[in-house]
Amino acid sequence: MLAALGLGQEDDAAMATLRQPRVAPPYPEDTPSTGRVREFELVAAPTALPLLDGRSLEVWAYNGQVPGPTLRATHGDTVRVRFTNKLPQPTTIHWHGIRLPNGMDGVPGVTQPPIPPGGTFLYEFKVKDAGTYWFHPHLRGSEQVERGLFGVLIVEDQKPGPFSRELVWVLDDWRLDASGQIDGRFNTRHDLAHDGRWGQVSTVNGAVQPEVPLQPGERVRLRMVNVANGRVFAPSFEGLGASVIAIDGLATDRPQPASRLELAPGNRVDLDFTVPEALSNQRMEVMDHFTRRPFPLATLVVSGEVVRPPEVAAVAPPPSPDLSPARALQPAETFRLNARRGGPFGIEWTINDEAFHHEGEHASAHHKVYRLPAHQWATLRFVNESSRLHPMHVHGQFFRVVARNGASVDEGHWRDTVLIRPRETVDVAMFPQDVGAWMLHCHIQEHAEAGMMTLVDVH
Ligand code: C2O
Ligand code: CU
Repeated sequence: MLAALGLGQEDDAAMATLRQPRVAPPYPEDTPSTGRVREFELVAAPTALPLLDGRSLEVWAYNGQVPGPTLRATHGDTVRVRFTNKLPQPTTIHWHGIRLPNGMDGVPGVTQPPIPPGGTFLYEFKVKDAGTYWFHPHLRGSEQVERGLFGVLIVEDQKPGPFSRELVWVLDDWRLDASGQIDGRFNTRHDLAHDGRWGQVSTVNGAVQPEVPLQPGERVRLRMVNVANGRVFAPSFEGLGASVIAIDGLATDRPQPASRLELAPGNRVDLDFTVPEALSNQRMEVMDHFTRRPFPLATLVVSGEVVRPPEVAAVAPPPSPDLSPARALQPAETFRLNARRGGPFGIEWTINDEAFHHEGEHASAHHKVYRLPAHQWATLRFVNESSRLHPMHVHGQFFRVVARNGASVDEGHWRDTVLIRPRETVDVAMFPQDVGAWMLHCHIQEHAEAGMMTLVDVH
């Protein structure tokens, strides 16, 4: 597949001579294998499920459920997924945030051919980082993800944490038509000209404002994933003394206050909180504050006996990396984000004036590929020349935000997806370690499909 992209052996040799001496990596390049293989079967197929307010909704689902099954492995395990496509369209599975061999990344026309209806594919990779990840199709995402194809992949730490309960919240929204079914008009001009498809109904795990039973004293690890096509969620957990312990999978440098949380499409946030005993026999609404009209996402219902959580020390976060070498660099690449008329939908979203289209095996053959040498710092600059939001995501790598609009920033955590606001410039520092051709794209499904994708070749 790489040959189709014009990446050859000679280029690798040329790059090798330019390579600087090896620097200590800011996150481990690899992890020892546990020798354990976790096997899963995933089937994507249309079905109908009681979702939202409980009425029957026609969806596309992994294993007949929305969200799809939560796959669990332990740090260092090998995950093996036998996938069957029973959809009326070709598809692939992308493992969002997971560092894996490039051929397992699920990008059609780049790392694998699309899986046709009736086709199968075997995904297999070792999980090198503990944390909260997810999976979704990487073909016609604006339709396939919207119809219900997404699931959570949890990589557990080898040592159990200090929690007495774990919650997984998949945040999503749905645009319904007059009959209450998923509106079948995808990639409309309106959605393309705005921040993608935002629905009128938001859900947690497929349900509208579910009740979440908790006991006082419980120590909770809440793993949240935003799988929406375009909507940004900003849930507030005031009064719980919650702290953020991980973002986009990896642990934060230190626990951070959970005020002003923001999850753009693709982002994950893990919270740590202890249910206050003062909340006994009370209900607490978790509100979303991203838009001007706050709405409740879920209701915490606290009742029952006081729980004493296990007395286990929390897993210590890895030391924070020294970003000074990265901060001293000029951007290795600048990505200008903009739109223009044209393309299959009438509006194209571009990166440096190029639009990338997945469909077909050779769609990317003549596309520019950005090259980044492995095992050294590089900074990338995103310049949002448009007045829309762009949650920019890079496959196979983590990065740190080092500046916004020229002002130095230290977020205290890694990311794989960063929200770029209208007219904003964001600099990120990356230390690529996993070689291959990796997608860099906007995670608003409609923007990506209208061209806002490109490839970064790490070698
Ligand atoms: Cu979750 Cu290429 O994305
Ligand atoms: Cu975008």
